[in-house]
Order: sequence, then C-alpha cells, then structure tokens
Amino acid sequence: MKTDITFTMVKPDAVNSGHIGLILDKITKAGFKFVAIKYTHLTIEQAGAFYEVHQERPFYRDLVTFMSSGPIVAAILQKENAVADFRKLIGTTDPSKADEGTIRKAFAKSIQENAVHGSDSNENATIEASFFFSNFERF
Ligand code: CMP
Repeated sequence: MKTDITFTMVKPDAVNSGHIGLILDKITKAGFKFVAIKYTHLTIEQAGAFYEVHQERPFYRDLVTFMSSGPIVAAILQKENAVADFRKLIGTTDPSKADEGTIRKAFAKSIQENAVHGSDSNENATIEASFFFSNFERF
C-alpha cells in the first residue's frame, strides 16, 4: 500500500485554548498515523525560517510573531493521500469559509490564528518534516 506523509502544527492559539487533545483526536479518528510528534516553542528566528516562503507577503511579520508567541505541537502524519486528505480535514485557511466538521471551522479564530498548519504539497511535507524531526525521531 502506498503511504504518504504530511506535516502539521497545532498553532499557539489552539494550544492556548486547551484544544491539543481534541485536535489530535480528530486527526487520529480521520485515519492518520503519528510518525513523529513534539511539543515545542519556536523562536522568532525558527518561525521566520519555517515560513520563509511567505517572507514577501504583508502578513509575514505578524505570522512570525504569532507563531513564536507560545508553544506548538509539531507532528508528521502518515496516510494514503496524506497531504490532500489532511487539507480536507482541516478546512480552508480562512476559517469563516471552512466547511462544517473541519478542524478550522471548530477551533480557528481568524485567518492568521487558524488553529493548525497542514503542508500544501508532498515536496513541502518532506521539507517541513525535516525542519522539525531527525530520522531518529520518526517511527
Ligand atoms: P498556514 O497553513 O500555516 O500557512 C501560512 C499561514 O499564514 C496560514 O496558515 C495563516 O496562519 C497565515 N496567513 C495566510 N494568509 C493570511 C492572511 N491573508 N493574513 C494573515 N495571515 C495569513
């Protein structure tokens, strides 16, 4: 069976609201296997590097400040068709447009404080997973 990975973060807004458990439960019930997981707090430099692809966007500075404002949960998830299925599970970036039943519909506060991150391609999933985890931390 072909299995793919995606990378996710439970963002500082959702961690601060006490939603780690509920979000990880939804991910598990949707059929994703946890390959790696860690609870950590990004520095401004680390958040800036992770979101470097957005550095020309007007929201970059605020995004980096937000993502380094408190702890996050980072994880690598495995499932067939992981990237697309996970993006369906979390819903659109803007939670006001997210479908009922999605994680962002349930937990996101705004387009920036949108509860969870999900990789947008297989290539970025690999890059993002390697940003947080070594091969010795994946099982
Ligand atoms: P994420 O899926 O982590 O990828 C990039 C992040 O930038 C996104 O979720 C939001 O948190 C943030 N973002 C995207 N678009 C905007 C926007 N228009 N204004 C503010 N933040 C945004």
